[in-house]
Amino acid sequence: MSPLTIAIPKGRPYAATVRFLREAGLAGPELEPEEGRSLYVECPEQGTRFIIARDSDVPTYVEYGAADLGIVGKNVLMEAEPQVYELLDLGYSKCRFVLAAPAGVDPRQLLNGRSTQRVATKYPRMTEAYFNSRGLQVETIYLHGSIEVAPKVGLADLIVDIVETGRTLRENNLVVIEDLWTSSMRLIANRAAYRLQAERIGPIVQRLREMVAGRDLAGKPQPAVAER
Ligand code: PRP
Repeated sequence: MSPLTIAIPKGRPYAATVRFLREAGLAGPELEPEEGRSLYVECPEQGTRFIIARDSDVPTYVEYGAADLGIVGKNVLMEAEPQVYELLDLGYSKCRFVLAAPAGVDPRQLLNGRSTQRVATKYPRMTEAYFNSRGLQVETIYLHGSIEVAPKVGLADLIVDIVETGRTLRENNLVVIEDLWTSSMRLIANRAAYRLQAERIGPIVQRLREMVAGRDLAGKPQPAVAER
């Protein structure tokens, strides 16, 4: 049987993803927790191999069938809307999408609809949909990263970006105007692979579901023991 191919993201969620995959028994020591330059890793004992890609490219590998499964943030899926199955919320790398502006600027002034504001973002489609739904016209400026610098240098008035710890916003003197959406890592599958390899993928999904449920329970306060 050929190995199961799983696309995973580099960067911020990489280490947590490797921990998750190892705990799930899907990856062995070959998939190292520190990112190297090797972008293709085989784990023969687990019958898996990994494509380590940019997060926005993970759905592409899965959609075209170069990978059977993928792990990627909901933020990426919401923006790209790839033709894949989203199977499971893995619950880690939680973050928020926010609308943010320079501290001290009155947001009502920015969003009064009288002038077109410029919004820098990695998520142009969602940003436009959000402002359209509010009846506000904005000019969306697409950037690949370092979004938070855009207002400082006059490239944009506002930003839409993801926030995890809030440190990048703080260090760039930006404040949240509005929380828009939330995100966490998701398991996705190629549609054909999901059907044709149901016997193989089904039990993996079940195992991951139980693992995630177990983690949720561990994180919740335990019910008080009833007194006798
Ligand atoms: C993401 C995001 C923010 C930052 C938020 O960027 O775009 O810039 O993380 O995280 P924080 O709230 O914990 O500071 P990333 O580190 O992926 O780099 P990028 O700017 O190059 O996209």
